[in-house]
Amino acid sequence: MRDSPGNERIGSLELIAGCMYSGKSEELIRRLRRALIGRQRVQVFKAAIDDRYSAVDVVSHDGQRLSALPVRNADEAWHRSDGGADVIAVDEAQFFDAALVDVCEELAHRGHRVIAAGLDLDFRGEPFGPMPMLMARADSLTKLTAVCAVCGAPTATRTQRLVGGLPASYSAPLIAVGATDMYEARCRAHHEVPGRPRPHAPWQAMMQAAATPSTTG
Ligand code: ADP
Ligand code: TMP
Ligand code: MG
Repeated sequence: MRDSPGNERIGSLELIAGCMYSGKSEELIRRLRRALIGRQRVQVFKAAIDDRYSAVDVVSHDGQRLSALPVRNADEAWHRSDGGADVIAVDEAQFFDAALVDVCEELAHRGHRVIAAGLDLDFRGEPFGPMPMLMARADSLTKLTAVCAVCGAPTATRTQRLVGGLPASYSAPLIAVGATDMYEARCRAHHEVPGRPRPHAPWQAMMQAAATPSTTG
């Protein structure tokens, strides 16, 4: 958080997005450690639902960790936010309700440096929770990629859910906390979602229009 010439604090909203294993938590921890080195006061929230590696710490897949406050929803984060914190961070932002957008905006407005990290897409390949709105409103956006578990390309942007080693179907529940037991990173070409409706088929409407005899002239 910087002081302006008039001495009011200037806040900001930074977003870290990407698929699983892309390094979101690592990047969040890196930024927070640097803030701590700069003797900044840091408060870290995480979605309480994600208790994979720890109920209270933000933990990366590589084992890096930082202590955090688990909260159940945006309202709880708002009420527990520390007005004296320079930096307020949220990991697993995709699990929060839509109100997280207003909470982050208001905290930034009040002069905090807010950093949120989360999955931009769910296992179906669709925008996840409040992430699209947070990404749109962010002052800075870092979109990370992982290594595709199928082809090894460093361009994985999707998360593959596997059930018994097979791709989970589109109708499977949205939330399933887990790690390598059920998820891998995949590039667009290797991401599989059986039963997924084709999201964009503009050519169908065009073909229909072309096949329909004109009623005029
Ligand atoms: P995220 O929070 O985005 O899921 P983390 O920051 O927790 O990611 O973990 C990133 C770490 O995960 C990497 O530094 C690497 O050690 C490990 N990792 C495991 N699988 C992959 C993968 N497919 N691509 C990249 N990193 C991976
Ligand atoms: P990560 O991005 O820090 O690795 O954590 C993502 C968490 O989100 C992990 O617990 C698995 C969970 N998850 C879902 O609940 N639904 C999904 O569609 C995906 C892709 C992940
Ligand atoms: Mg993470």
